[in-house]
Amino acid sequence: MRNKLNNLKTLVNKNVFVPTGTSDLLIDASTKIIKSNKTILDLGCGNGIVGISISKIKKIKKKVYFSDISNSACKNTKQNCEKFKINYEIKKGKIFNPWKNYKFDYIVSDVAAIADGVAKVSPWYQNCTNNAGIDGTKNVIKFLNEARFYLNKKGIILFPVISLSNEKKIISVLKKKFDNIKLIKTKTWPLPKSMYKNINLLKKLKSKKIICFENKYGILTFKTDIYHAQKKN
Ligand SMILES: C[S@@+](CC[C@H](N)C(=O)[O-])C[C@H]1O[C@@H](n2cnc3c(N)ncnc32)[C@H](O)[C@@H]1O
Repeated sequence: MRNKLNNLKTLVNKNVFVPTGTSDLLIDASTKIIKSNKTILDLGCGNGIVGISISKIKKIKKKVYFSDISNSACKNTKQNCEKFKINYEIKKGKIFNPWKNYKFDYIVSDVAAIADGVAKVSPWYQNCTNNAGIDGTKNVIKFLNEARFYLNKKGIILFPVISLSNEKKIISVLKKKFDNIKLIKTKTWPLPKSMYKNINLLKKLKSKKIICFENKYGILTFKTDIYHAQKKN
């Protein structure tokens, strides 16, 4: 899998999430914010592409931290870290469970976050699990509720909000828990054609305000927003 920004060719193993445009957007946004020589956690690392790319682009010498709920993802990240000679620590586990007593300057998280009904009919989650709940917010909200305990003073989180989840619910938790909230990147994508046959399901979720997509001249589109937020004092 080639990352468009720095041409990094990472390996993607069976049962591991195949990086998407959202991964690239998160990398692009993060590298504009993250300062070198800081501690970074890539939470929901998949094959490690986000943390590894940031580390390479920003020339980070410090250890980069990775975690994922999936054993295959952790093994794949290890393989890629060794391939790209990254100084790494990888732990398997749910959200912050593996990181008791750790603190980071930046937490970059692309943890699974689309509505389960959408994930089931999408090409992205055929070999790995989404398990983000009916409205796609379960993992992100847990992440937002706990992140401040794992951040250093003035620590920053960077994460995507995809319109195939209940964005409003996520943003309302973000506003309660964090300061200095900024929408730093946004991109609209065509919905994969293979999902058009499930249009009735998608319309039903949209009518319930669980997801949002647009129909522009017969092309269905959804979007990714990348958010920056800072730990409250
Ligand atoms: C959208 S993929 C992103 C993977 C990678 N960061 C990328 O951009 O390609 C989401 C990742 O979150 C992981 N994940 C799902 N639920 C999780 C949880 N509760 N805790 C930690 N990781 C989780 C999945 O195994 C998957 O690797």
